Amino acid sequence: MAWAPDNVRKWSTLTLLALMGTTLTAAINPGFSAIISQKGLDFACQEGVTELQKELETIKVPNFSGIFKTKHLGKGSYEFYSMTVEGFHIPNPRIRLLLTDKVQLSIKDASIKIRGRWKSKKNFLKARGKFDLSLQGVFISADLQLGRSPPGRLRVECSACSSHIDRVHIQISGSMLGWLIRLFHKKIETSLRNSINEKEGPLWSMEQGDGKVVARVDEMAAIDYSLLTLRTTVEFLEGQLKGEFFWRSHHDPLPTTPPAMSFSPNKSYMVQLGISDYFFNTAGLAYQESGTLQMTLRDWMLPKDSKFRLNTEFLGTFLPKVALKFPSTEVQLLISVSSPPRLSIQPSGLLLNPALETQAFAVLPNSSLIPLFLVHMNTTASLEVDTEADRLVGAMKLEKLTLELKQSDFGSFKVELLQAVVNYLMPTIVLPKINERLRKGFPLPLPAGVRLNNPVFQTYQNFLVLGADVHRT
Ligand SMILES: *[C@@H]1O[C@H](CO)[C@@H](O)[C@H](O)[C@H]1NC(C)=O
Ligand SMILES: *[C@@H]1O[C@H](CO)[C@@H](O)[C@H](O)[C@H]1NC(C)=O
Ligand SMILES: *[C@@H]1O[C@H](CO)[C@@H](O)[C@H](O)[C@H]1NC(C)=O
Ligand SMILES: *[C@@H]1O[C@H](CO)[C@@H](O)[C@H](O)[C@H]1NC(C)=O
Repeated sequence: MAWAPDNVRKWSTLTLLALMGTTLTAAINPGFSAIISQKGLDFACQEGVTELQKELETIKVPNFSGIFKTKHLGKGSYEFYSMTVEGFHIPNPRIRLLLTDKVQLSIKDASIKIRGRWKSKKNFLKARGKFDLSLQGVFISADLQLGRSPPGRLRVECSACSSHIDRVHIQISGSMLGWLIRLFHKKIETSLRNSINEKEGPLWSMEQGDGKVVARVDEMAAIDYSLLTLRTTVEFLEGQLKGEFFWRSHHDPLPTTPPAMSFSPNKSYMVQLGISDYFFNTAGLAYQESGTLQMTLRDWMLPKDSKFRLNTEFLGTFLPKVALKFPSTEVQLLISVSSPPRLSIQPSGLLLNPALETQAFAVLPNSSLIPLFLVHMNTTASLEVDTEADRLVGAMKLEKLTLELKQSDFGSFKVELLQAVVNYLMPTIVLPKINERLRKGFPLPLPAGVRLNNPVFQTYQNFLVLGADVHRT
Protein backbone atom coordinates (compact mmCIF):
# COMPACT_ATOMS: atom_id res chain seq x y z
CA MET A 1 0.00 0.00 0.00
CA ALA A 2 1.60 3.17 -1.15
CA TRP A 3 -0.57 5.58 0.68
CA ALA A 4 1.76 6.46 3.48
CA PRO A 5 4.48 8.91 2.33
CA ASP A 6 2.50 9.99 -0.62
CA ASN A 7 -0.41 11.07 1.46
CA VAL A 8 1.59 12.69 4.15
CA ARG A 9 2.75 14.79 1.30
CA LYS A 10 -0.69 15.28 -0.10
CA TRP A 11 -2.05 16.28 3.23
CA SER A 12 0.78 18.66 3.94
CA THR A 13 0.54 20.16 0.52
CA LEU A 14 -3.16 20.65 0.74
CA THR A 15 -2.92 22.13 4.17
CA LEU A 16 -0.25 24.51 3.07
CA LEU A 17 -2.06 25.44 -0.05
CA ALA A 18 -5.12 26.11 2.01
CA LEU A 19 -2.91 28.17 4.21
CA MET A 20 -0.86 30.19 1.81
CA GLY A 21 -3.17 30.13 -1.12
CA THR A 22 -2.42 28.79 -4.53
CA THR A 23 -2.27 32.31 -5.84
CA LEU A 24 0.23 33.32 -3.23
CA THR A 25 2.70 33.61 -3.22
CA ALA A 26 14.89 40.05 1.37
CA ALA A 27 16.47 43.06 1.53
CA ILE A 28 13.70 45.24 0.26
CA ASN A 29 10.50 45.95 2.13
CA PRO A 30 7.44 44.06 0.97
CA GLY A 31 4.46 45.87 -0.47
CA PHE A 32 2.20 43.38 1.21
CA SER A 33 2.50 41.07 4.17
CA ALA A 34 0.41 38.16 5.33
CA ILE A 35 0.43 36.99 8.91
CA ILE A 36 -1.28 33.78 9.90
CA SER A 37 -1.98 33.05 13.55
CA GLN A 38 -2.40 29.67 15.24
CA LYS A 39 -6.15 30.21 14.87
CA GLY A 40 -5.62 30.62 11.12
CA LEU A 41 -3.40 27.55 11.02
CA ASP A 42 -6.07 25.52 12.80
CA PHE A 43 -8.55 26.55 10.13
CA ALA A 44 -6.07 25.63 7.41
CA CYS A 45 -5.50 22.30 9.12
CA GLN A 46 -9.22 21.49 9.16
CA GLU A 47 -9.42 22.53 5.54
CA GLY A 48 -6.47 20.33 4.68
CA VAL A 49 -8.02 17.35 6.42
CA THR A 50 -11.35 17.85 4.67
CA GLU A 51 -9.49 17.95 1.38
CA LEU A 52 -7.45 14.93 2.33
CA GLN A 53 -10.57 12.98 3.19
CA LYS A 54 -11.99 13.76 -0.23
CA GLU A 55 -8.72 12.81 -1.88
CA LEU A 56 -8.40 9.57 0.00
CA GLU A 57 -11.79 8.40 -1.10
CA THR A 58 -10.54 8.41 -4.65
CA ILE A 59 -7.18 6.84 -3.90
CA LYS A 60 -6.18 3.61 -5.63
CA VAL A 61 -5.01 1.03 -3.14
CA PRO A 62 -2.53 -1.38 -4.76
CA ASN A 63 -3.18 -5.10 -4.70
CA PHE A 64 -1.74 -7.02 -1.82
CA SER A 65 -0.84 -10.68 -2.04
CA GLY A 66 0.87 -13.36 -0.02
CA ILE A 67 1.05 -17.04 0.74
CA PHE A 68 -0.17 -19.13 3.61
CA LYS A 69 1.26 -22.44 4.75
CA THR A 70 -0.12 -25.23 6.91
CA LYS A 71 1.59 -28.32 8.09
CA HIS A 72 -1.04 -30.65 6.77
CA LEU A 73 -2.49 -28.85 3.81
CA GLY A 74 0.61 -27.31 2.32
CA LYS A 75 0.89 -23.93 0.63
CA GLY A 76 -1.76 -21.64 -0.78
CA SER A 77 -1.84 -18.09 -2.08
CA TYR A 78 -4.21 -15.18 -1.64
CA GLU A 79 -4.64 -11.79 -3.21
CA PHE A 80 -6.58 -8.75 -2.07
CA TYR A 81 -7.69 -6.46 -4.87
CA SER A 82 -10.31 -3.90 -5.97
CA MET A 83 -9.71 -2.08 -2.75
CA THR A 84 -11.48 1.23 -2.14
CA VAL A 85 -11.31 3.56 0.82
CA GLU A 86 -14.75 3.65 2.39
CA GLY A 87 -14.14 5.99 5.24
CA PHE A 88 -11.42 7.98 6.86
CA HIS A 89 -11.75 9.26 10.38
CA ILE A 90 -9.27 11.86 11.59
CA PRO A 91 -10.20 12.78 15.14
CA ASN A 92 -7.48 15.21 16.09
CA PRO A 93 -5.34 16.74 13.38
CA ARG A 94 -2.91 19.27 14.73
CA ILE A 95 -0.68 21.89 13.27
CA ARG A 96 1.95 23.64 15.26
CA LEU A 97 4.49 26.32 14.50
CA LEU A 98 8.09 25.44 15.08
CA LEU A 99 10.76 28.08 15.07
CA THR A 100 13.30 27.82 12.24
CA ASP A 101 10.55 28.30 9.66
CA LYS A 102 8.85 24.99 10.14
CA VAL A 103 5.36 23.80 10.84
CA GLN A 104 4.59 20.41 12.26
CA LEU A 105 1.54 18.55 11.13
CA SER A 106 0.32 15.56 13.04
CA ILE A 107 -2.54 13.13 12.96
CA LYS A 108 -3.07 10.77 15.86
CA ASP A 109 -5.34 7.81 16.15
CA ALA A 110 -6.96 8.11 12.77
CA SER A 111 -8.73 5.15 11.26
CA ILE A 112 -9.33 4.06 7.72
CA LYS A 113 -11.87 1.59 6.37
CA ILE A 114 -11.11 -0.21 3.17
CA ARG A 115 -13.39 -2.58 1.33
CA GLY A 116 -12.31 -4.99 -1.35
CA ARG A 117 -12.30 -8.44 -2.81
CA TRP A 118 -10.05 -11.39 -2.24
CA LYS A 119 -9.18 -14.48 -4.20
CA SER A 120 -7.25 -17.48 -3.15
CA LYS A 121 -5.70 -20.53 -4.69
CA LYS A 122 -4.72 -23.79 -3.05
CA ASN A 123 -3.57 -26.42 -5.49
CA PHE A 124 -6.41 -26.56 -8.02
CA LEU A 125 -8.88 -25.11 -5.52
CA LYS A 126 -9.89 -21.55 -6.26
CA ALA A 127 -12.18 -19.28 -4.27
CA ARG A 128 -13.09 -15.66 -3.96
CA GLY A 129 -15.06 -13.33 -1.76
CA LYS A 130 -15.16 -9.93 -0.11
CA PHE A 131 -13.37 -8.42 2.84
CA ASP A 132 -13.42 -5.36 5.07
CA LEU A 133 -10.16 -3.99 6.26
CA SER A 134 -9.81 -1.47 9.00
CA LEU A 135 -6.61 0.33 9.89
CA GLN A 136 -6.60 1.82 13.35
CA GLY A 137 -4.29 3.95 15.38
CA VAL A 138 -2.93 5.64 12.29
CA PHE A 139 -0.30 8.20 13.17
CA ILE A 140 1.20 10.65 10.72
CA SER A 141 3.71 13.32 11.57
CA ALA A 142 5.44 15.72 9.24
CA ASP A 143 7.84 18.55 9.96
CA LEU A 144 7.62 20.85 7.02
CA GLN A 145 10.40 23.23 6.25
CA LEU A 146 8.96 26.28 4.55
CA GLY A 147 11.01 28.33 2.20
CA ARG A 148 11.01 30.37 -0.92
CA SER A 149 12.11 29.27 -4.32
CA PRO A 150 13.05 31.92 -6.83
CA PRO A 151 11.33 33.81 -8.30
CA GLY A 152 8.94 33.81 -5.37
CA ARG A 153 6.94 30.69 -4.78
CA LEU A 154 6.42 28.80 -1.60
CA ARG A 155 8.60 25.72 -1.26
CA VAL A 156 7.77 23.02 1.24
CA GLU A 157 10.22 20.33 2.21
CA CYS A 158 9.45 17.46 4.49
CA SER A 159 12.32 17.28 6.92
CA ALA A 160 10.98 14.59 9.23
CA CYS A 161 8.00 12.71 7.97
CA SER A 162 6.78 9.50 9.51
CA SER A 163 3.69 7.41 9.67
CA HIS A 164 2.72 4.40 11.66
CA ILE A 165 -0.23 2.06 11.92
CA ASP A 166 -0.98 0.30 15.19
CA ARG A 167 -3.68 -2.16 14.29
CA VAL A 168 -5.03 -3.81 11.21
CA HIS A 169 -8.26 -5.86 11.20
CA ILE A 170 -9.52 -7.96 8.37
CA GLN A 171 -12.97 -9.42 8.11
CA ILE A 172 -13.20 -11.98 5.39
CA SER A 173 -16.44 -13.23 3.98
CA GLY A 174 -16.99 -15.84 1.30
CA SER A 175 -17.06 -19.59 1.22
CA MET A 176 -14.51 -22.31 0.65
CA LEU A 177 -11.02 -21.00 1.32
CA GLY A 178 -12.35 -18.03 3.28
CA TRP A 179 -12.22 -20.02 6.47
CA LEU A 180 -8.62 -20.95 5.71
CA ILE A 181 -7.54 -17.38 5.15
CA ARG A 182 -9.38 -16.40 8.33
CA LEU A 183 -7.10 -18.81 10.15
CA PHE A 184 -4.19 -16.72 8.98
CA HIS A 185 -5.67 -13.32 9.53
CA LYS A 186 -3.22 -12.45 12.28
CA LYS A 187 -0.32 -13.22 10.01
CA ILE A 188 -1.82 -11.35 7.10
CA GLU A 189 -2.57 -8.37 9.32
CA THR A 190 0.99 -8.26 10.56
CA SER A 191 2.42 -8.53 7.12
CA LEU A 192 0.06 -5.84 5.81
CA ARG A 193 0.89 -3.53 8.66
CA ASN A 194 4.61 -4.05 8.20
CA SER A 195 4.38 -3.38 4.53
CA ILE A 196 2.68 -0.05 5.25
CA ASN A 197 4.96 0.94 8.07
CA GLU A 198 8.05 0.13 6.05
CA LYS A 199 7.16 2.90 3.67
CA GLU A 200 8.70 5.67 5.73
CA GLY A 201 8.45 8.98 3.98
CA PRO A 202 11.61 9.78 2.13
CA LEU A 203 12.72 13.38 2.09
CA TRP A 204 10.79 15.26 -0.48
CA SER A 205 10.13 18.79 -1.50
CA MET A 206 7.44 20.46 -3.45
CA GLU A 207 7.04 23.77 -5.12
CA GLN A 208 3.99 25.37 -6.56
CA GLY A 209 5.10 25.29 -10.15
CA ASP A 210 7.43 27.97 -11.36
CA GLY A 211 7.23 31.55 -12.43
CA LYS A 212 6.10 34.39 -10.28
CA VAL A 213 2.83 34.48 -8.47
CA VAL A 214 0.48 36.77 -10.25
CA ALA A 215 -3.15 37.62 -9.61
CA ARG A 216 -4.96 38.99 -12.61
CA VAL A 217 -6.98 42.10 -11.83
CA ASP A 218 -8.56 42.97 -15.18
CA GLU A 219 -7.57 43.49 -18.82
CA MET A 220 -5.29 46.29 -17.66
CA ALA A 221 -3.39 45.18 -14.64
CA ALA A 222 -2.18 42.29 -12.54
CA ILE A 223 -0.66 42.06 -9.08
CA ASP A 224 2.67 40.42 -8.39
CA TYR A 225 2.23 38.53 -5.11
CA SER A 226 5.61 36.78 -5.21
CA LEU A 227 6.87 35.58 -1.89
CA LEU A 228 9.93 37.55 -0.73
CA THR A 229 10.56 36.01 2.68
CA LEU A 230 8.83 33.75 5.10
CA ARG A 231 9.38 33.18 8.78
CA THR A 232 7.80 31.61 11.79
CA THR A 233 7.59 32.93 15.32
CA VAL A 234 6.09 31.19 18.33
CA GLU A 235 2.65 32.48 17.45
CA PHE A 236 2.65 33.46 13.79
CA LEU A 237 3.61 32.47 10.32
CA GLU A 238 4.61 35.57 8.39
CA GLY A 239 4.97 35.85 4.66
CA GLN A 240 6.26 38.98 3.00
CA LEU A 241 4.96 39.44 -0.50
CA LYS A 242 5.96 41.80 -3.23
CA GLY A 243 2.49 43.37 -3.50
CA GLU A 244 3.04 45.28 -6.69
CA PHE A 245 0.69 46.11 -9.54
CA PHE A 246 1.97 46.02 -13.07
CA TRP A 247 0.58 46.65 -16.47
CA ARG A 248 1.08 43.99 -19.15
CA SER A 249 4.66 42.83 -19.23
CA HIS A 250 5.97 46.15 -18.05
CA HIS A 251 8.35 45.98 -15.16
CA ASP A 252 10.51 49.06 -15.23
CA PRO A 253 12.05 50.12 -11.95
CA LEU A 254 9.31 51.99 -10.15
CA PRO A 255 9.76 55.56 -8.97
CA THR A 256 8.65 54.52 -5.51
CA THR A 257 9.78 52.06 -2.84
CA PRO A 258 7.78 50.19 -0.24
CA PRO A 259 7.71 51.63 3.29
CA ALA A 260 8.62 49.56 6.34
CA MET A 261 5.51 47.96 7.84
CA SER A 262 5.94 47.27 11.47
CA PHE A 263 3.04 46.38 13.74
CA SER A 264 2.32 43.88 16.48
CA PRO A 265 0.29 41.02 15.11
CA ASN A 266 -2.92 40.20 16.95
CA LYS A 267 -3.59 36.51 17.45
CA SER A 268 -7.35 36.95 17.70
CA TYR A 269 -7.51 37.18 13.89
CA MET A 270 -6.87 34.19 11.68
CA VAL A 271 -5.05 36.35 9.18
CA GLN A 272 -3.73 39.85 9.08
CA LEU A 273 -2.76 41.48 5.85
CA GLY A 274 -0.41 44.44 5.90
CA ILE A 275 -1.09 46.58 2.84
CA SER A 276 1.29 49.43 2.11
CA ASP A 277 0.74 52.67 0.23
CA TYR A 278 3.23 51.20 -2.24
CA PHE A 279 0.65 48.57 -3.19
CA PHE A 280 -1.91 51.27 -4.01
CA ASN A 281 0.59 53.57 -5.67
CA THR A 282 1.84 50.90 -8.04
CA ALA A 283 -1.84 50.44 -8.93
CA GLY A 284 -1.97 54.16 -9.74
CA LEU A 285 1.15 53.85 -11.89
CA ALA A 286 -0.10 50.77 -13.73
CA TYR A 287 -3.45 52.33 -14.56
CA GLN A 288 -1.89 55.64 -15.49
CA GLU A 289 0.49 53.85 -17.82
CA SER A 290 -2.29 51.81 -19.37
CA GLY A 291 -3.93 55.07 -20.39
CA THR A 292 -7.27 54.20 -18.83
CA LEU A 293 -7.44 56.97 -16.28
CA GLN A 294 -9.42 59.32 -18.46
CA MET A 295 -12.98 59.97 -19.32
CA THR A 296 -14.83 61.98 -21.94
CA LEU A 297 -17.93 63.84 -20.82
CA ARG A 298 -20.57 64.43 -23.48
CA ASP A 299 -23.77 66.36 -23.28
CA TRP A 300 -25.95 63.25 -23.48
CA MET A 301 -24.41 62.00 -20.26
CA LEU A 302 -25.91 64.91 -18.33
CA PRO A 303 -29.23 64.39 -16.63
CA LYS A 304 -32.20 65.91 -18.50
CA ASP A 305 -32.87 68.39 -15.69
CA SER A 306 -29.27 69.62 -15.57
CA LYS A 307 -28.99 73.40 -15.00
CA PHE A 308 -26.51 73.66 -17.84
CA ARG A 309 -25.65 71.84 -21.05
CA LEU A 310 -22.31 71.04 -22.61
CA ASN A 311 -22.60 73.42 -25.54
CA THR A 312 -21.19 76.71 -26.77
CA GLU A 313 -24.30 78.65 -25.71
CA PHE A 314 -23.63 77.76 -22.14
CA LEU A 315 -19.87 78.47 -22.44
CA GLY A 316 -20.82 81.78 -24.07
CA THR A 317 -21.87 83.08 -20.66
CA PHE A 318 -18.18 83.42 -19.79
CA LEU A 319 -16.44 82.82 -23.16
CA PRO A 320 -18.52 84.89 -25.64
CA LYS A 321 -15.91 84.44 -28.39
CA VAL A 322 -16.51 80.70 -28.43
CA ALA A 323 -20.27 81.13 -28.76
CA LEU A 324 -19.76 83.55 -31.65
CA LYS A 325 -17.28 81.37 -33.50
CA PHE A 326 -19.13 78.06 -33.00
CA PRO A 327 -22.81 78.80 -32.55
CA SER A 328 -25.01 75.96 -31.29
CA THR A 329 -22.12 73.52 -31.07
CA GLU A 330 -21.64 70.68 -28.68
CA VAL A 331 -18.78 70.87 -26.20
CA GLN A 332 -17.01 67.87 -24.77
CA LEU A 333 -14.71 67.61 -21.78
CA LEU A 334 -11.79 65.20 -21.57
CA ILE A 335 -10.93 64.61 -17.94
CA SER A 336 -7.63 62.86 -17.32
CA VAL A 337 -5.09 62.27 -14.62
CA SER A 338 -1.99 64.34 -15.27
CA SER A 339 0.30 62.36 -12.97
CA PRO A 340 -0.14 58.94 -11.36
CA PRO A 341 -2.53 59.23 -8.41
CA ARG A 342 -0.82 58.77 -5.06
CA LEU A 343 -2.49 57.49 -1.96
CA SER A 344 -1.29 58.67 1.37
CA ILE A 345 -2.07 56.39 4.28
CA GLN A 346 -2.16 58.13 7.65
CA PRO A 347 -3.33 56.89 11.03
CA SER A 348 -6.32 59.18 10.46
CA GLY A 349 -7.30 57.66 7.13
CA LEU A 350 -6.56 57.33 3.43
CA LEU A 351 -6.13 60.45 1.35
CA LEU A 352 -5.74 60.85 -2.37
CA ASN A 353 -4.64 63.98 -4.20
CA PRO A 354 -5.15 63.12 -7.83
CA ALA A 355 -3.96 65.82 -10.19
CA LEU A 356 -6.65 66.07 -12.81
CA GLU A 357 -6.91 68.03 -16.01
CA THR A 358 -9.91 68.96 -18.06
CA GLN A 359 -9.51 69.79 -21.70
CA ALA A 360 -12.58 71.31 -23.33
CA PHE A 361 -13.29 70.92 -27.04
CA ALA A 362 -15.94 72.19 -29.41
CA VAL A 363 -17.29 69.29 -31.48
CA LEU A 364 -17.82 70.37 -35.10
CA PRO A 365 -20.58 68.80 -37.22
CA ASN A 366 -17.92 66.72 -39.03
CA SER A 367 -16.71 65.49 -35.59
CA SER A 368 -13.50 67.53 -35.63
CA LEU A 369 -12.46 68.68 -32.17
CA ILE A 370 -11.40 72.26 -31.63
CA PRO A 371 -9.46 72.78 -28.35
CA LEU A 372 -10.97 75.52 -26.21
CA PHE A 373 -9.19 75.58 -22.87
CA LEU A 374 -7.31 73.47 -20.36
CA VAL A 375 -8.10 73.56 -16.67
CA HIS A 376 -6.06 72.01 -13.90
CA MET A 377 -8.10 70.52 -11.07
CA ASN A 378 -6.56 70.19 -7.67
CA THR A 379 -8.55 67.56 -5.82
CA THR A 380 -8.51 66.09 -2.37
CA ALA A 381 -10.35 62.84 -1.94
CA SER A 382 -10.63 60.30 0.81
CA LEU A 383 -10.75 56.58 0.28
CA GLU A 384 -12.60 54.05 2.37
CA VAL A 385 -11.55 50.43 2.00
CA ASP A 386 -13.44 47.28 2.74
CA THR A 387 -13.48 43.68 1.62
CA GLU A 388 -15.99 41.86 -0.48
CA ALA A 389 -15.51 38.08 -0.41
CA ASP A 390 -11.83 37.70 -1.35
CA ARG A 391 -11.29 41.16 -2.76
CA LEU A 392 -10.25 44.51 -1.48
CA VAL A 393 -12.81 47.10 -2.47
CA GLY A 394 -12.98 50.85 -2.04
CA ALA A 395 -15.15 53.91 -2.18
CA MET A 396 -13.87 57.38 -2.94
CA LYS A 397 -15.28 60.63 -1.63
CA LEU A 398 -14.36 64.04 -2.96
CA GLU A 399 -13.36 66.45 -0.25
CA LYS A 400 -12.16 69.48 -2.15
CA LEU A 401 -11.75 70.58 -5.72
CA THR A 402 -10.07 73.75 -6.89
CA LEU A 403 -9.61 74.90 -10.46
CA GLU A 404 -6.84 76.71 -12.19
CA LEU A 405 -6.94 77.85 -15.81
CA LYS A 406 -3.81 76.54 -17.53
CA GLN A 407 -4.47 77.62 -21.04
CA SER A 408 -7.28 79.12 -23.12
CA ASP A 409 -7.45 79.35 -26.90
CA PHE A 410 -10.21 81.98 -26.89
CA GLY A 411 -9.17 84.39 -24.23
CA SER A 412 -8.89 84.28 -20.50
CA PHE A 413 -11.89 83.91 -18.22
CA LYS A 414 -12.64 83.65 -14.54
CA VAL A 415 -12.23 79.97 -13.77
CA GLU A 416 -14.59 80.28 -10.79
CA LEU A 417 -17.40 80.49 -13.34
CA LEU A 418 -16.62 76.90 -14.20
CA GLN A 419 -16.50 75.78 -10.60
CA ALA A 420 -20.25 75.16 -10.35
CA VAL A 421 -20.12 73.02 -13.48
CA VAL A 422 -17.27 70.91 -12.19
CA ASN A 423 -18.77 70.70 -8.72
CA TYR A 424 -21.82 69.24 -10.37
CA LEU A 425 -20.14 66.95 -12.92
CA MET A 426 -17.57 65.35 -10.64
CA PRO A 427 -19.90 63.80 -8.05
CA THR A 428 -22.75 63.05 -10.46
CA ILE A 429 -20.85 61.57 -13.41
CA VAL A 430 -17.13 61.08 -12.78
CA LEU A 431 -17.07 59.82 -9.20
CA PRO A 432 -19.75 57.14 -9.73
CA LYS A 433 -17.62 55.72 -12.57
CA ILE A 434 -14.55 55.62 -10.37
CA ASN A 435 -16.50 54.03 -7.54
CA GLU A 436 -18.01 51.49 -9.86
CA ARG A 437 -14.48 50.33 -10.63
CA LEU A 438 -13.37 50.47 -6.99
CA ARG A 439 -16.38 48.39 -5.95
CA LYS A 440 -15.21 45.60 -8.25
CA GLY A 441 -12.08 45.56 -6.18
CA PHE A 442 -8.71 43.91 -6.39
CA PRO A 443 -7.87 40.27 -5.63
CA LEU A 444 -6.20 39.49 -2.33
CA PRO A 445 -3.75 36.58 -2.06
CA LEU A 446 -6.24 34.06 -0.69
CA PRO A 447 -6.80 30.47 -1.75
CA ALA A 448 -9.67 29.89 -4.15
CA GLY A 449 -13.02 29.73 -2.38
CA VAL A 450 -11.76 31.33 0.81
CA ARG A 451 -13.58 34.42 2.02
CA LEU A 452 -12.81 36.98 4.68
CA ASN A 453 -15.14 37.37 7.66
CA ASN A 454 -15.66 40.49 9.77
CA PRO A 455 -12.70 42.44 8.42
CA VAL A 456 -11.26 45.11 10.68
CA PHE A 457 -8.99 47.78 9.23
CA GLN A 458 -6.45 49.74 11.14
CA THR A 459 -4.38 52.47 9.54
CA TYR A 460 -0.79 53.36 10.38
CA GLN A 461 1.76 55.69 8.82
CA ASN A 462 2.11 54.52 5.18
CA PHE A 463 0.24 51.23 5.55
CA LEU A 464 -2.93 49.65 6.77
CA VAL A 465 -3.61 46.33 8.40
CA LEU A 466 -6.60 44.21 7.62
CA GLY A 467 -7.41 41.65 10.30
CA ALA A 468 -10.04 39.01 9.62
CA ASP A 469 -11.15 35.46 10.01
CA VAL A 470 -11.65 33.31 6.97
CA HIS A 471 -14.20 30.75 5.94
CA ARG A 472 -14.86 28.66 2.91
CA THR A 473 -17.93 29.15 0.79
C1 LIG B 1 -5.17 -6.30 -9.05
O1 LIG B 1 -5.72 -7.59 -9.13
C2 LIG B 1 -6.81 -7.75 -10.04
C3 LIG B 1 -7.34 -9.13 -9.89
O2 LIG B 1 -6.31 -10.05 -9.87
C4 LIG B 1 -6.32 -7.44 -11.45
O3 LIG B 1 -7.39 -7.51 -12.34
C5 LIG B 1 -5.71 -6.02 -11.48
O4 LIG B 1 -5.18 -5.77 -12.74
C6 LIG B 1 -4.65 -5.91 -10.43
N1 LIG B 1 -4.20 -4.53 -10.39
C7 LIG B 1 -2.93 -4.19 -10.41
C8 LIG B 1 -2.64 -2.71 -10.40
O5 LIG B 1 -2.04 -5.00 -10.42
C1 LIG C 1 -6.90 42.16 18.99
O1 LIG C 1 -8.10 42.23 18.24
C2 LIG C 1 -9.27 42.09 19.04
C3 LIG C 1 -10.46 42.03 18.11
O2 LIG C 1 -10.52 43.15 17.27
C4 LIG C 1 -9.34 43.27 20.02
O3 LIG C 1 -10.48 43.13 20.84
C5 LIG C 1 -8.08 43.27 20.88
O4 LIG C 1 -8.07 44.40 21.70
C6 LIG C 1 -6.84 43.27 19.99
N1 LIG C 1 -5.66 43.12 20.82
C7 LIG C 1 -4.63 43.92 20.74
C8 LIG C 1 -3.48 43.60 21.61
O5 LIG C 1 -4.62 44.87 19.98
C1 LIG D 1 -14.32 69.83 -40.40
O1 LIG D 1 -14.92 71.10 -40.63
C2 LIG D 1 -14.07 72.22 -40.39
C3 LIG D 1 -14.88 73.49 -40.54
O2 LIG D 1 -16.00 73.30 -41.33
C4 LIG D 1 -12.89 72.16 -41.37
O3 LIG D 1 -12.01 73.24 -41.13
C5 LIG D 1 -12.14 70.86 -41.16
O4 LIG D 1 -11.10 70.72 -42.10
C6 LIG D 1 -13.09 69.68 -41.30
N1 LIG D 1 -12.36 68.50 -40.92
C7 LIG D 1 -12.45 67.34 -41.59
C8 LIG D 1 -11.64 66.21 -41.08
O5 LIG D 1 -13.17 67.24 -42.57
C1 LIG E 1 -3.18 72.09 -4.85
O1 LIG E 1 -3.48 71.86 -3.48
C2 LIG E 1 -2.36 71.79 -2.67
C3 LIG E 1 -2.83 71.42 -1.28
O2 LIG E 1 -4.01 72.08 -0.94
C4 LIG E 1 -1.60 73.11 -2.72
O3 LIG E 1 -0.43 73.01 -1.94
C5 LIG E 1 -1.21 73.40 -4.15
O4 LIG E 1 -0.58 74.65 -4.24
C6 LIG E 1 -2.45 73.40 -5.03
N1 LIG E 1 -2.07 73.56 -6.42
C7 LIG E 1 -2.77 74.27 -7.25
C8 LIG E 1 -2.24 74.33 -8.64
O5 LIG E 1 -3.80 74.84 -6.92
